[in-house]
Amino acid sequence: MNKKKILVTGIAGFIGSNLADRLLVAGHEVLGIDNLSYGLKEQIAPEVIFHKLDIRSKDIYPLFEGIDMVFHMAAKNCLSDCQKDPVETADINVVGTVNVLEAASRAKVRKVIYAESSDMYGGLKTFPTNEEKIQPETFYANSKAASHFFAQSYVKYHQMNITGLRYFNVYGPRQDWQRTDRPIVSEFIIQLLRGERPILYGEGRRSKDYIYVDDINDFHLLAMENDATNGEVYNLGSGTATSFKELLDTVQKLLGKKVEPELRPSLSFGVERTEADISKARALGWEPKTSLEEGLRLSIDYIKKHVIPKL
Ligand SMILES: NC(=O)c1ccc[n+]([C@@H]2O[C@H](COP(=O)([O-])OP(=O)(O)OC[C@H]3O[C@@H](n4cnc5c(N)ncnc54)[C@H](O)[C@@H]3O)[C@@H](O)[C@H]2O)c1
Repeated sequence: MNKKKILVTGIAGFIGSNLADRLLVAGHEVLGIDNLSYGLKEQIAPEVIFHKLDIRSKDIYPLFEGIDMVFHMAAKNCLSDCQKDPVETADINVVGTVNVLEAASRAKVRKVIYAESSDMYGGLKTFPTNEEKIQPETFYANSKAASHFFAQSYVKYHQMNITGLRYFNVYGPRQDWQRTDRPIVSEFIIQLLRGERPILYGEGRRSKDYIYVDDINDFHLLAMENDATNGEVYNLGSGTATSFKELLDTVQKLLGKKVEPELRPSLSFGVERTEADISKARALGWEPKTSLEEGLRLSIDYIKKHVIPKL
C-alpha cells in the first residue's frame, strides 16, 4: 500500500470518524473538515489534522492542495430536519458538495469518493434494488440525487475520478444519537437500556437493509485502490431487509429484555422498504462480513459505555 494524503469531510460524524480511524490504521495521513453542526470533536482521532470549516466556504480550497484522495461525507442528513428545511438541505448537500468537487478539481485530486443514499430509490418498488434507476422523493433524497448529477458533470467535463456510494442503513459505534430523530438502531437500544417503552410506527412493518460500519469501510479501502470504480456508483447494504419489529425483537433478545412496544401510526415521510442488490459491489470482491446480531452486540456495547452515561 502507498501512503496517501487523504481529506475526509464530515470527519466528526459517524461514518467519517470511523473511516478516519481505518485510514490511520492503514498508514495514511488524514486531514479532516467538519463544522461540528452534528458531529463531535471528541470522535476525531488525535492524529487527524482537523479544520473546523464549512464545506460551503471557499476557505476549504487551500486544504485540497497536495491531497491524493477525498472522502466527502459531510451532509445534512437527519430526515425530519431536511423535510423542515429544504433550503438549507440543498445548500449543504448540493452547493456544499459542488464546492468540494470544485476544490478537488482545481487541486487535481486523484479521486473523490462521496456519499449518496439508498433514499434516492424512495419511490421505486423493485426489490432488491439495483443501481440502474433512481426515484427520489424526500428533500434529502433529492439533494443526494442532485449531487450525484453534479458529480457526473465533473466526471464528464473535468475528467475527474469520482465514485458515489449509496449507503443503506449504516449502523454501529458513534452513530449520531443526538439528532432530532435518532436512527432506529440507536433508538431501540437506548430506549431498552433506559427501561423505556420502545415505540413502533406502523406496527413495525417498515423494513430496512442494515449494514455495519466496518463493512462499508472495507469497501472504502477497496474503492481507493480500484480504478474500475471511477465514474461508478455502488449500493452498500447487506442485501437483506429486516422489519422494525424483527429488529426490535433481536435487540430485546440480545439485551434479555421483553417490553411490549407502544404502537403509533406510520410516519408521513421516509421510505417503507429498502433492500440492496449488492451484486455490483460483490463483483469487485467485497462482501459484508458482520451479521446483524454481531453488529447489534457491538452497538449495544458502545451505547452502554459512551451514550448512556451522557443521558
Ligand atoms: N448513516 C447512514 O445510514 C447513511 C445512509 C445513507 C447515506 N449516508 C450519508 O453518509 C454521509 C455520512 O453520514 P453519517 O451517518 O456519518 O452522518 P453524520 O451526521 O454523523 O456526519 C455528517 C457530518 O457532517 C458534518 N457537517 C454537516 N454539515 C456540514 C457543513 N456544512 N460543513 C462541514 N461539515 C458539515 C456534521 O457536523 C457531521 O459531523 C452523509 O453524506 C450521509 O448523507 C449515511
